[in-house]
Parts: sequence; C-alpha cells; structure tokens
Amino acid sequence: MKENKILTGRGGKYEPLDVKGYEADGGFAGLKGALAIGPESVIEEIKRSGLSGRGGAGFPTGAKWEMAAREKQEPKYFICNAEEGELGTFKDKVLLDGDPWLVLEGILIASYAIGAGQSYIYINGEYEETVKLWEKLVVEARKAKLPGDGISGSKSSVDLQVIKGKGLYITGEECALISSLETRRATGQLKPPYPTQRGLFGRPTVVNNVETIANIPVILSMGAEEYRKLGTAKEPGTRLFCLSGDVKKNGVYELETGSGTLRELIEEFGGGTKSGRGVKAVQPGGGTSAFLSGRSVDCKLSDEAIRQAGSGLGTAGVIVYEEGKSAVGIVKGLLDFYGRESCGRCAPCRIGVVRMKEIIERLFHGKGTTEDLEHLREIGKACVSVSTCGMGQAFPLPVLSALELFPEDFEAVIAQAPA
Ligand SMILES: Cc1cc2nc3c(=O)[nH]c(=O)nc-3n(C[C@H](O)[C@H](O)[C@H](O)COP(=O)(O)O)c2cc1C
Ligand code: SF4
Repeated sequence: MKENKILTGRGGKYEPLDVKGYEADGGFAGLKGALAIGPESVIEEIKRSGLSGRGGAGFPTGAKWEMAAREKQEPKYFICNAEEGELGTFKDKVLLDGDPWLVLEGILIASYAIGAGQSYIYINGEYEETVKLWEKLVVEARKAKLPGDGISGSKSSVDLQVIKGKGLYITGEECALISSLETRRATGQLKPPYPTQRGLFGRPTVVNNVETIANIPVILSMGAEEYRKLGTAKEPGTRLFCLSGDVKKNGVYELETGSGTLRELIEEFGGGTKSGRGVKAVQPGGGTSAFLSGRSVDCKLSDEAIRQAGSGLGTAGVIVYEEGKSAVGIVKGLLDFYGRESCGRCAPCRIGVVRMKEIIERLFHGKGTTEDLEHLREIGKACVSVSTCGMGQAFPLPVLSALELFPEDFEAVIAQAPA
C-alpha cells in the first residue's frame, strides 16, 4: 500500500509565508482556472469530481455550494472549519501548517464560487502557533492582492478573517461554530434551516472542513475527470488517515480511498501494535465512531466498506486498541472527554452523557450491576435518536458497540462486584 500525496505532497517544500515559493511549485493554478471559467462552472466541476466533506458527515461538497449559490439573500459567507476537536483527529493541522497557501487558495475559490464576499477560517484555539501563522499569512496574502478587493486581479472581491476558536469540541459543529462567530453561546441547532439557507448573521453560509477545502485547488488544476480516477467510484480522491492509539508509530497518511485495508494501515504504516499483541478493536472514524472488533481489520479503507462492517469513516481518525485492554476502561476514557463537552442545549445529551458516565464509572470501579448494562443501552439509544445535533447522536455509539462486541469485559467487572 502506497501513499498518494495529492494534498500533502507539497508540505515543507516552501517556507510557510513564502507565497512565491508556493506559486513556483504550481500553486494558484486552481484559482486561475476558477476565475477563467466562472462560479457556475466551478460548482459543476466540483459536483463532477464527486468530492464529499471530510469533516465527518461526508456531505457532497458541490451540492452544498450549489444550495448556497442559489439563495437570493445577500451577503453570503464562507467558513473554513479548522476547529479539529474530534478525538484521534489531527490531519487538518498538517495542511494548515504544512501547505497553508493550498488551504487559502481553496477558501478563495469556494468563496468565489458561492458568491461570498466575506470568508473566515475558524482555527482551534489550542493550535496557538497555527493561529499566529495564519494571521501573518493573511497579511502576506493581502500584500499579494489575493483576498481583498479583486482576487488575483479579477473583478471579484473576497475578504478573509482569521478567528481563534474556543478549543471546545462543540464549536466544530457547524451551527455551534456559527453561534460562536456571532459571539453567542455555542450550541447545536435543529436543522432545517441549514446554514446554506440561514447561517452566519442569518445569511446563506457554507461551512467546509480544511481537508475538503484543500481538495478544491487540486480538483480544479487536475480536472474532475482525472480526480475521479483516484479512490473508489463512490468516494473519489484520497483521505488523510490519522493513525493513533496502540500502534508503534502514530501519523497522518494520505491514501486513496479503498486502496488498502485497516490491517495494512496498522501494520505497514503504524508498525503494528505497541506490544506486538493482536488488535482488539479499532475506532475508524474518530472518538465518536462505533468500534470494529479485531476480526474486522481486513475491511477496506472506504466509508462504504467500513459501514458494512458496522462503523463509519467519519474524520478518518483511526484509533487502535490492542488485545489485553478492557472495553470498560476504553469507554470510560471516551466518556471522560465527551461528558465534559455537551453544550447542554437539549436534555437527552445533557443528562444522558452524565448518566452514562456515572454508570461506566460504577462498572469500572467494580460496583456495577447487570441492570446497569440495560440502562446504558436504553440511555444510549435514546440519545442517538432524539438529540439535537451530531454530538448527542454519536457519543453513545462506542458504548453501544462495546456492549455488543465485548460483553465479556462488562460481565467480568460485574462478577468482581461485592454481592
Ligand atoms: C460535535 C461535532 C463536532 C464537529 N467538529 C468538527 C470539526 O472540528 N471540524 C469539521 O470540519 N467538522 C466538524 N463537525 C462537522 C461540521 O458540523 C460540518 O459538518 C463540517 O464542518 C462540514 O464540512 P464538510 O462538508 O467539508 O465536511 C462536527 C460535527 C459535530 C456534530
Ligand atoms: S446534542 Fe448535545 S451538543 Fe448537541 S445540541 Fe444537544 S446538548 Fe448540545
């Protein structure tokens, strides 16, 4: 299995603030192409490429842009989501630091395509150095007459502002991010209306993930037809797989979708498990994705294959757990995190996450009962089906899948409990 670095290949080839270095390496070909064909054709090309969002939900990018472009209301906004708060996910930072002009070029093209005069990049507040780099980058970009009046000498105008995020998990969710940008309390919202209809300051807004945006200049310079030759027919392109957990070597690896298996990723790129023992479980799509058991590691690296196996590719944050670990301890670690991150807007998630955390802690400390397992299932399923946003709908998935895949781990801690 080999990497195909269409997004990460330029990383480190130029000094981050050196716009000329980027241009000399083929940069801005996508932007020039976009300005030459016009906004509608750009959207058509992105639709033809089959690009889908890399922020977790996998929504088709071209269709999202078209929805915003068709809205009559003005002004429109574009937001690049660089919050990157999901557990096991650290790919966007590689692009933001390693090839920032690629991301900036993508933002300008996206804003141009949907007709947004103002764009924002909302960067995780814990990425302090990245925020500083981007603040300087925008100054350099203005000097080069990129954002501002007349992108690259054209008649279109786009301004770009860097926003230092709050470093909260929920501010990665698009509606919460928008509320945060409006200086309101960051909470999930019921949809519709979608941000493309009523987003920032009530206006049509597109929110896209950093990796999604990095694909844009690449698609426009290579052409949608060539791009579609990469990856699988249903999921064209590459994914930045973030490998972490019990592997010898953590890292971000850019692979065409479907080009190999989870096992190959873990063994060839991760050097196998830390202890050399087998793989007990994998979360293939970040900390809120359902577990796959070690028996499923021959699954192909595509969302379709991973869904058939019982989980989802989500953010492609692949977290590996080796044999010998108890599912109860793993799930406790996850709920320690998500238990602090609910925004509190809706009762199922606000109360459910705390109750599930309490039960898991009881089990972990050898004080749980068989009824606790049933309560975990009931609360988890209720949160998944009636929570307002993706946080409440997803955080129970690892717990529910652990109960299904590793019941013996839960039974073992109950057996230790005093009668
Ligand atoms: C709780 C929660 C956290 C999220 N965090 C992020 C994030 O950090 N970065 C991101 O791009 N998308 C995140 N998303 C997804 C966004 O809501 C949105 O779908 C995405 O930014 C759209 O971009 P895309 O279409 O390019 O994937 C999160 C969703 C939820 C429910
Ligand atoms: S599901 Fe959780 S994070 Fe989302 S709106 Fe409800 S309380 Fe907030």
